[in-house]
Amino acid sequence: MKKIVIGLLGFGTVGSGTAAILENNRYDISTRTNADITIKKALVHDIHKPRPDCRGIILTDDPREITDDPEIDIVVEVMGGIEPARTLILTAMANGKNVVTANKDLLAQNGEELLEAAKKNGRDLYFEASVAGGIPIIAALRQSLTANRISSLLGIINGTTNYILSAMTEQGRNFADVLKEAQELGYAEADPVSDVEGLDAARKLAILSSLAFNTRVTFNDVYAEGISNVSPEDIHYADELGCVIKLLAIAKNQEEGIEVRVHPALISKKHPLANISGVYNAIYVTGDAVGETMFYGKGAGALPTGSSVVADIIQIVRNMSAGSEGLLNCGCYRNYPIISTDD
Ligand code: NDP
Ligand code: HSE
Repeated sequence: MKKIVIGLLGFGTVGSGTAAILENNRYDISTRTNADITIKKALVHDIHKPRPDCRGIILTDDPREITDDPEIDIVVEVMGGIEPARTLILTAMANGKNVVTANKDLLAQNGEELLEAAKKNGRDLYFEASVAGGIPIIAALRQSLTANRISSLLGIINGTTNYILSAMTEQGRNFADVLKEAQELGYAEADPVSDVEGLDAARKLAILSSLAFNTRVTFNDVYAEGISNVSPEDIHYADELGCVIKLLAIAKNQEEGIEVRVHPALISKKHPLANISGVYNAIYVTGDAVGETMFYGKGAGALPTGSSVVADIIQIVRNMSAGSEGLLNCGCYRNYPIISTDD
């Protein structure tokens, strides 16, 4: 069985979720990849901070310990921010490592540069976790829906703001208290202004529309307005009109050009998006061949986001083995008994 070594840049919410999934689902993952995948080291700010779930991973505050370690095959960037994340990813790829990142800030600003560097170095760069946590929307746009001319994307793509608006609407709770709770649950960004002011959703919309419309959309192209001005009175009046308030991300590919915007909107309670509650996200994608499709799931948190990170790791391991593995490049099969459904 092939041995694959991972280096984490960051060991916070998403890093520890990734480590937990790799450990808890070790057997299934190894049968699907025919590989033994282990995390060797993780970069952190503070190596002395108590971390109950270290799982034998070596902690370091020196990024070169990860980017320059010849034993590491895949670097997983889950530290966030633009720098030093950008430089570390570029260095890792130049040093022959494949990369997984959850960093929408960086992708929405420097995505093209990173993809070019991956191409130049012959490396993989995967980023499923950068949009909508555990929902496989990037894979859907890159693969399953790629035959379509996509005309629009419409959805809720920030878990923190949906968590806040849902609690204000359904329980009459106070904005600041619920934001604090979302931070404690690991949903919010390091600077929650990104969530609350719609910047995080705008970054994600830039990534999604670039993929969907096969063009370059950056964060600066997206109109962004957040929920900080949404008051309990607004929620009450929306209710009287038979509506709820949601932070919507909207992208349309029209004859005149591409329209990309994020802002709070009134939605009829009869619309399916009105019922997307808490940390859940949902995205409608409309394509000329497939028609309307909807993707739904948890948009933030350690395990949902870790699920996307680990899926990317597995895909890279499969790519690394391409040509040398068996049927469908899926590793070996488990021998489960088949339960008969006959009477
Ligand atoms: P956290 O703040 O929980 O974790 C960040 C980790 O990176 C910490 O371990 C921190 O060290 C380390 N770190 C940050 N900067 C540095 C630095 N300059 N040098 C060394 N170590 C550093 O963030 P999250 O796990 O929540 O988010 C990580 C990334 O994933 C971000 O890009 C975020 O946008 C994205 N994301 C997050 C989701 C979520 O639900 N939380 C969902 C989808 C994407 P230390 O532990 O010592 O502080
Ligand atoms: N802060 C983000 C959110 C994390 O709440 O949606 C997931 O990208």
